Amino acid sequence: MHIPSLIGHKRDGGSLTAGEIRAVIQAFTRGEMPDYQMSALAMAIYFQGMTPEETTALTEAMLHSGSTLQWAENAPLRVDKHSTGGIGDKTSLILAPLLACDGLWVPMISGRGLGITGGTLDKLESIPGFRTQLSEEEIHGVIEKVGCVMVGQTAGICPADKKLYALRDVTGTVPSIPLITASILSKKLAEGLNRLVLDVKWGSGAFMKTNEEAHQLAQSMVTVGRALGVRSSVRLSEMNEPTGESAGNALEVAECVRCLQGHGPQDLEDIVLDLASAVSISSRSELAEMLRRGDAWRKFQQMVAAQGGKVSALEKMATVHKAPFIAEFKATHSGMLQRMDAGGIGKVVLELGAGRSKAADPVDFAVGCDRIAKTGTEIGGGDVLIRVHARTQTALEHALAVLPQHIDIV
Ligand code: URA
Repeated sequence: MHIPSLIGHKRDGGSLTAGEIRAVIQAFTRGEMPDYQMSALAMAIYFQGMTPEETTALTEAMLHSGSTLQWAENAPLRVDKHSTGGIGDKTSLILAPLLACDGLWVPMISGRGLGITGGTLDKLESIPGFRTQLSEEEIHGVIEKVGCVMVGQTAGICPADKKLYALRDVTGTVPSIPLITASILSKKLAEGLNRLVLDVKWGSGAFMKTNEEAHQLAQSMVTVGRALGVRSSVRLSEMNEPTGESAGNALEVAECVRCLQGHGPQDLEDIVLDLASAVSISSRSELAEMLRRGDAWRKFQQMVAAQGGKVSALEKMATVHKAPFIAEFKATHSGMLQRMDAGGIGKVVLELGAGRSKAADPVDFAVGCDRIAKTGTEIGGGDVLIRVHARTQTALEHALAVLPQHIDIV
């Protein structure tokens, strides 16, 4: 294989064969192909794109660059969801235990937050003692006992993606549909799934800003998922206002506990039920009943205990992580809430310290926003629009000063 010729071929709009793609990924993973060549190839893919066949071959090569979770022939169906991420998107914490109540196995491998988007692992780690880094043996143990497990990527899974994503991050090649498809699906399919639902978001608080971009990514992921033998479906969701009523790690866990106990909020419950019914064997109304009865809440507590978390902390997350400075932001006049901009609220939450700008930054579990009002509702003068939880007086004042730019009442 002559790598400069392959790069040139892709640069000039040619297609690579599955064999060439496999050889490139193997050489790159083993350290036999230098980063500068892989960066050049990623840039050629960024400009020229890939055919569905090439994207499928890339996904498969990355999937097999490391270990995959193996399940017994007679094991229950394995299902999962991937969300492209948004503000206050906490659906995983409710969906995984709900699906496990349906007799399915949910071996959910998730990531950390970056930029304005929060991460499932950060939310879970706000539960005292909760361990997200489990060995493959421990993952199997929790799944067999509980039916769901929520963990970070192990060292052995998809090493090609870890290396390639790090390069893309510093070479301007993240926003490429074939590269995103291969990156996301290689990690998800390494879970050994039968069914996958993709929650592709678009809007001011999402990676994809328009419905059209989200549609293209969704189409690409569903095509590749199906080509690799996984029943894949998609839900496009708008992310122009935060999901639910909170954004920030411990605040979101507290909201999930309320939802698992049957107390909404409605938009969060609706997304969870839509996504769960796309991969479950029960109907949407049966799943809603499981949620209402508290089955998923009991399952969530079992999972938290199995992963070392303190179950008794779950109903008091607001006091376990209490920010020192809390203030309500109120409406100055009455009217209809027209805009609660997800991108803007995400930035406020990031600046409060709930998210990270660089992968190595720490996150503050206590800070963020809650009691976020929903658009379309009638607001009276003096009503609370959002409540801010800050680590310092300065951070609180800054958040309160910028919030009016992101909220409109008409
Ligand atoms: N998330 C991923 O895991 N990979 C991408 O390429 C983009 C988002």
